[in-house]
Amino acid sequence: MRTQVAIIGAGPAGLLLSHLLHLHGIESVVLEARSREKIESTVRAGVLEQGTVNILRESGLGERMDREGKTHRGIYLRFDSETHHINFEELCYGRLISVYAQHEVIKDLVAARLEQGGKLIFSVSNVKLHDIDSTRPRVSFSHQGKEKEVVCDYIAGCDGFHGISRPSLPGSVRRDHTWAYPLGWLGILVESPPSSDELIYAYHPRGFSLVSTRSPTLQRLYLQCLPDDKMEEWSDDRIWTELHARLKTRDDWCLQEGPIIRKDVVALRSFVCEPMQHGRLYLAGDSAHIVPPTGAKGMNLAVADVRVLSEAIASYYASGSSEKLNAYSETALKRVWRSVHFSCWMTSMLHHFDNTPPFEQKLQLAQLRYVTASRQAAASLAENYVGLPM
Ligand code: APR
Ligand code: PHB
Repeated sequence: MRTQVAIIGAGPAGLLLSHLLHLHGIESVVLEARSREKIESTVRAGVLEQGTVNILRESGLGERMDREGKTHRGIYLRFDSETHHINFEELCYGRLISVYAQHEVIKDLVAARLEQGGKLIFSVSNVKLHDIDSTRPRVSFSHQGKEKEVVCDYIAGCDGFHGISRPSLPGSVRRDHTWAYPLGWLGILVESPPSSDELIYAYHPRGFSLVSTRSPTLQRLYLQCLPDDKMEEWSDDRIWTELHARLKTRDDWCLQEGPIIRKDVVALRSFVCEPMQHGRLYLAGDSAHIVPPTGAKGMNLAVADVRVLSEAIASYYASGSSEKLNAYSETALKRVWRSVHFSCWMTSMLHHFDNTPPFEQKLQLAQLRYVTASRQAAASLAENYVGLPM
């Protein structure tokens, strides 16, 4: 097989890159380890920044998102049993967020790629990258019992944190920055109407919790746990008891309960690989960086990376100049580090850490009071949450 860009991984980064390249008239092949059914049903993030919404709309992918996604004008911060609204619309000149699940974005992207005759190969295994230092890199893989190979001009490593692309960058050029938090999030999907019109981020001495949503009949709720907690340790009763305690308010707000149809635990970490490119290999999305979910940045960073990368590749084919490609990592990393900082800041403000000295707990509360009382401080949170301009 011969193509212009071989893309490893059909997550938001790989699929959107393939779609944006197609709009520039550039061919790609996407190699994905899992099945189409699996990638279209895995429950992940749900918040789209204004810039992400704009890219999806401008590239012709906005139809279902605009119909089924829900626009939010802000978020609530809850602490000391009081709820405070951060109004993005007012603080960020009309910039908003949209709540639309990542797997719905994936479904729209897969449908669009297949409709345009895009080449997506699912359920591949044994993917290996070759000759990334040359002008004719190759990707070998197994599919349906046969050994295959794609020869290409460029490889995009969009295969997430556990993929093979990042380890293919030579250790001598790569620097990994890792920060593991003593924190996990237990996420649940609940069959019930939403408890709130917008997301609630709640600080409580028993731990953080978050009220999000998926649809008029499905809620997504999270609560802080330990990173190695097992799902079996969290009975439905224990979950509801904790959520009620952590989300308690002085007013008549009420948490909607319902059957819990899914539970998952994620460990929180920050991770950045520098540089995000070597030879003809370019990393994008979770393969290059991970942020804790508190700032809702994961999918948005993946989208921002592939926007920069698609334009750099298009510029090469249009003009023969590699200038933008050479600058890809440096350009992308500026946004990455801003988001890493914001996510880390939100995480440390909102979580209760065991062994946190009372002094630091007082600082957390002082910070929360400041961002909810000062227009300038609230505007800074809002600007980062809705996303800086792409
Ligand atoms: N070969 C082919 N595909 C692979 C391989 C491999 N060796 N390893 C992993 N993959 C696939 C995974 O199965 C997955 O479908 O790569 C895809 C990577 O997708 P994501 O993990 O969703 O990463 P990305 O596209 O960068 O999107 C980032 O995902 O984890 C969330 O919160 C994160 O929202 C963010 C988004
Ligand atoms: C989600 O709805 O899954 C979600 C929302 C906000 C976050 C993280 C996850 O900060």
